[in-house]
Amino acid sequence: EEIDKGGYPHFMLKEIMEQPESLRNSMRGRILLEEGNAKLGGLADVADRLANSKRILISACGTSWHAGLVGEYMFEHFTRIPTEVEYASEFRYRNPIVGSEDTVFFISQSGETADTLAALREAKLRGALALGICNAVGSSIARESDAGVYTHAGPEIGVASTKAFTSQLVVLALITLLIGRKKNLSLEDGKLIASELLTIPDKVEKILKLNPEIEIIAEQFKDAKNFLYLGRGYNFPVALEGALKLKEISYIHAEGYPAAEMKHGPIALIDENMPVVFIAPKDSTYEKIKSNIQEVKARGGKIIAIASENDDEIDHLVDYAIKIPDTIEMLRPILTVIPLQLLAYHIAVKKGLNVDQPRNLAKSVTVE
Ligand code: AGP
Repeated sequence: EEIDKGGYPHFMLKEIMEQPESLRNSMRGRILLEEGNAKLGGLADVADRLANSKRILISACGTSWHAGLVGEYMFEHFTRIPTEVEYASEFRYRNPIVGSEDTVFFISQSGETADTLAALREAKLRGALALGICNAVGSSIARESDAGVYTHAGPEIGVASTKAFTSQLVVLALITLLIGRKKNLSLEDGKLIASELLTIPDKVEKILKLNPEIEIIAEQFKDAKNFLYLGRGYNFPVALEGALKLKEISYIHAEGYPAAEMKHGPIALIDENMPVVFIAPKDSTYEKIKSNIQEVKARGGKIIAIASENDDEIDHLVDYAIKIPDTIEMLRPILTVIPLQLLAYHIAVKKGLNVDQPRNLAKSVTVE
């Protein structure tokens, strides 16, 4: 087992650290830089039908569902095809309106999640184009979908999904390119996305070097009873994912919210015992996020911010700022989630918990 962990104390840490490599593997041979496009062999036969879909649905569970939310933002922004994301467990039980003009993506690391598989069968029965985004090669969802794309993140052993998530985001970005270039996405914009994608693994490598710094922050927060994670736009799903990571391995109650929703309820929870993690890179929502930060600070909440590396201003506003490299908006979640994976990991380790196999959880949920 020690050899499998590659010298790391846990699979989860190994898998977090592997991300520069897993992300390179997810992109390898799939980026057409000059054409500002993506080459996805698995979708070649269905690409036109996909691009002509009236509507796209994305169905998944847990972390894969969070990836789906990021996908929704990407697809709607760059392809202008209306996109909805739904928990697989809800989709299958509510007589969904879906048919032959729709495409439904099923995202699953394991490819064996019972709810996702059942939703896939339901979508196929109703005539939709059913596409899989799976990590496990030859898995049930990969086999039963009409076509699909493998994430190629490599085997993920830790119950908490890390590298599979970031690879799902890469694949969703590649699919965005593929559909977008068949629609209105310009060559220039396509090239920008393609070239930015190629820079992501090196940037992730840089973020991973912050591990010791994040471990020190974890020490300060390991006894917290609750956490809030807040982000806007593309970083709202990252807030949900950061909270899920913390919940499942450290057993600390955590909630993710769109930052602006704070004032509609969660703000009542804030006092000096409520740590708040803001995902606050310098993007179009930065000014708004800053005022949310000030509201928390005024109420004594302890603040950790995931911020852009050139942002000196934020140091005066928060207790801890984790500074990361920047990229274009649609790819930021791949970077902003990495410190949150490490934070959850270190808090769980400091609490002496079994991070690779948390209580009550299975890697692949094959029961309904
Ligand atoms: C992620 O950390 C969780 N363990 C869980 O939410 C997981 O993402 C979910 O069960 C879906 O699994 P899948 O991607 O294999 O379908």
